[in-house]
Amino acid sequence: MATLTERDAAAVAGIEKLRFFPLEVESGSGSWLTEPGGRRLLDLSATWTACGLGHGHPAVTEAITKAAQRPAGAGGLSAVHPDSVGLAEDLLALVPGSGERRVYLGHAGSDACDVALRACRHATGRSRIVAFEHSYHGGVGVAMGVSGVHVDAGAPPDPAGVFVPFPDPYRPHTGDPATVVAASLAAVGEQLTMGDVACVIVEAIQSDGGLVVPPDGFLSGLSELCRRHGVLLICDEVKVGLGRPGLLHSFDRDGITPDLVAFGKTLGGGLPLSAVVGPAEILDGPTASALLTTAGNPICTAAGRAVLRTLEAERIPEAAAERGAQLMGLLDDFAGSGKAGSEFLGDVRGRGLAIGVDLVTDRDSKARADDLARKAVYRAWQLGAVVYYVGGNVLEVTPPMIISADEVAQAAEVLTTAISEAADGLVTDEMVAPYAGW
Ligand SMILES: Cc1ncc(COP(=O)(O)O)c(C=O)c1O
Repeated sequence: MATLTERDAAAVAGIEKLRFFPLEVESGSGSWLTEPGGRRLLDLSATWTACGLGHGHPAVTEAITKAAQRPAGAGGLSAVHPDSVGLAEDLLALVPGSGERRVYLGHAGSDACDVALRACRHATGRSRIVAFEHSYHGGVGVAMGVSGVHVDAGAPPDPAGVFVPFPDPYRPHTGDPATVVAASLAAVGEQLTMGDVACVIVEAIQSDGGLVVPPDGFLSGLSELCRRHGVLLICDEVKVGLGRPGLLHSFDRDGITPDLVAFGKTLGGGLPLSAVVGPAEILDGPTASALLTTAGNPICTAAGRAVLRTLEAERIPEAAAERGAQLMGLLDDFAGSGKAGSEFLGDVRGRGLAIGVDLVTDRDSKARADDLARKAVYRAWQLGAVVYYVGGNVLEVTPPMIISADEVAQAAEVLTTAISEAADGLVTDEMVAPYAGW
C-alpha cells in the first residue's frame, strides 16, 4: 500500500511544497507533533511560527470550538460579527500609533503585505517600493515581487521595486560590521532622494533570508530616514512578531512606530489569519479593492483574539525571552566546546525564540555549509525533531513559545547531535536528494 508521502506526491501539487524530509504529521500537542504510528517529534519550527502557541493550546481550541458551534457566516466582506470587529479593536490597542487607524483582516502574511504595499501605492500616488535583498514578504502579487528571496530564485521582480542591502553584521556587504548600518541607510536614502517612493518595507529580523539580526539602531535610522523624506514605513512582523523576539513586536527593540504593521502566522494560532494596522487614509480606500470572501472569518478571528489574550495572560514575550536565552546559551556552549561538529557553527544569533544557527564549512571563510544544513535537518528529523533551514545554510529554530525549560534542553541536545552526526556522514546524498529545500 502506498505511504502517505507517496499519495501526497501523486495527488498534491508540487508548486506549493517546501520539503526537507518525509515528515508526516497526524496530530500534535504542546511543543510536539505525532507521526502516524505514534513517533513524537519535538517541533522546533512551529510550522514556520504559525503555531506560535504550540499545538492545541486550550485557549485557542476553546475559542475555535465555540465559534464553530455558533456559526456566524463565513467572513467580513458584507457583514460584521463581534470577533472580526473585536480583533480589529484588539490590534489597534496593541500596536503603537496615533490618529485615525484601521485594520485590514486577511488570510496570510502574503495578502497582508500585498494589501499594505498596494494601499501605500494607491494612497501616495507613487509607484516605487524600496525593499531589502533576500527579504521575504509573501508568495502573491506585489508582496512576491518585492521579496528578495523570490528574486534570488529567478521570479520576476516588481517593475517598480528596488532592492538594497540589509545590514548583516556576520557577513557584512561592506566588509566591515561597523559600517553595515550606515551603508544600508545610505542606499535607502539614495532611493528616497530619487523620489516617487510609495513605501519602504522591512523585516525587523530578516528571517527567510537567513535569520539575519541587524545591529541596534538600524530600524530607528530607517524610520527617521522615512520620516525625513515623507515616505511610509511598513514593518513586516509576520514571522517573528507577536512575542517571539522576547518583546511584543520586534520593532519595539528600536522603539519605533512604523506607519503600517503586517501580522500573520502566530496571530491565527494555526488557522489562516493575517492583519495590517495602519492609517485610515491609507487603508480605507478605495472601497472593495482588497476582497477575499472569507477574510475576517468568524472562526479565525475568534482564534486570533484568543491568541492575543494568551500572549498577555501567559506573558509569552517574557517566556520567549527566557527560553530563548537558555537555548542560545546551550547552542553557544556547544559552539565553543571543541566537540565534534562544533567547528561548523559559524554564528548563533537571534532574539528571543527566533534563533539562527549559521553553519559554515570553516569559520575563517564563513562559506555557507548548505550541504551540511540539508543533512543536519534531515538527521534532526531522524532523531526526533522538526527544524528547517533558511538562507541555504542557517538552521531556523523557532519552537512554539510555550516550550518548557526541559524541552529546550532536549532541543539543544538533538540539534547539536544532528549537526555532529550529519557532519560525520550519517546522512547520505541519496537521502536528501528529493528535498530541494529552500
Ligand atoms: C516576514 C514574512 N512576511 C510574509 C510572509 C508570508 O506569509 P504567508 O506564508 O503566511 O503568506 C512570510 C512567510 O514566511 C514571512 O516570513
